Amino acid sequence: MYAISLGDDGAELRPLEPWHAEELLAHMERGREFIGRHIALPDAVKDLPSARAFLQAYADKRAADEGYLYGIWLTGKLVGGLLFRIFDTAQQSCEAGCWLEPAAAGRGLVTRGARIIIDWAVEERGMYRVEWIASPANEPSLNVARRLGMTQEGVLRESYLYRGVRSDMEVWSVLAPEWRAARAGHDR
Ligand SMILES: CC(C)(COP(=O)(O)OP(=O)(O)OC[C@H]1O[C@@H](n2cnc3c(N)ncnc32)[C@H](O)[C@@H]1OP(=O)(O)O)[C@@H](O)C(=O)NCCC(=O)NCCS
Repeated sequence: MYAISLGDDGAELRPLEPWHAEELLAHMERGREFIGRHIALPDAVKDLPSARAFLQAYADKRAADEGYLYGIWLTGKLVGGLLFRIFDTAQQSCEAGCWLEPAAAGRGLVTRGARIIIDWAVEERGMYRVEWIASPANEPSLNVARRLGMTQEGVLRESYLYRGVRSDMEVWSVLAPEWRAARAGHDR
């Protein structure tokens, strides 16, 4: 299977597919509490059948060109992922998201991986708008949006119901011309 190197530390981005269900579950057990502080992913990956169902749902989205899921491997171990939860080619708009197990945080893995998938979405797939939606309490995620050059657009008040509690969600985005200008700056 193909892999895209994220740097010289053995980090790679690869498609995360239904046959990875056992690996995904083992990774989720290592990160369940940390990952679940703000997002419901651990609740969707509770056991092997639900892990398979989650991966199959993304395989179906991928087949329909409506969503994409990628794993981040560090020296051969699945440690996190990136996704396009929404991929709307008609509107040229998508929403990206991410997660890591705690041992893999603080190394830039998500920022490095997000740059690759956003480049693909903008340059190869014609996306004009890439969104990032995160809780105001999720400072590490908001910092990823900042590092990606996104702009905060507003707050969806009490829009996210998670474990019985409603939370505000911040909407951030980067537009294709902004992405290209930022990349040109990096390349100089
Ligand atoms: C959101 C989440 C993925 C952010 O993880 P993260 O490790 O902070 O993000 P990155 O992988 O981009 O790494 C950035 C950190 O690595 C550092 N870093 C090291 N090398 C780097 C590099 N080459 N490039 C960028 N940052 C680098 C940065 O300084 C930063 O550390 P700091 O926050 O202490 O300044 C993580 O907190 C997480 O999984 N949370 C639980 C799930 C979740 O909430 N997901 C988001 C839903 S909206």
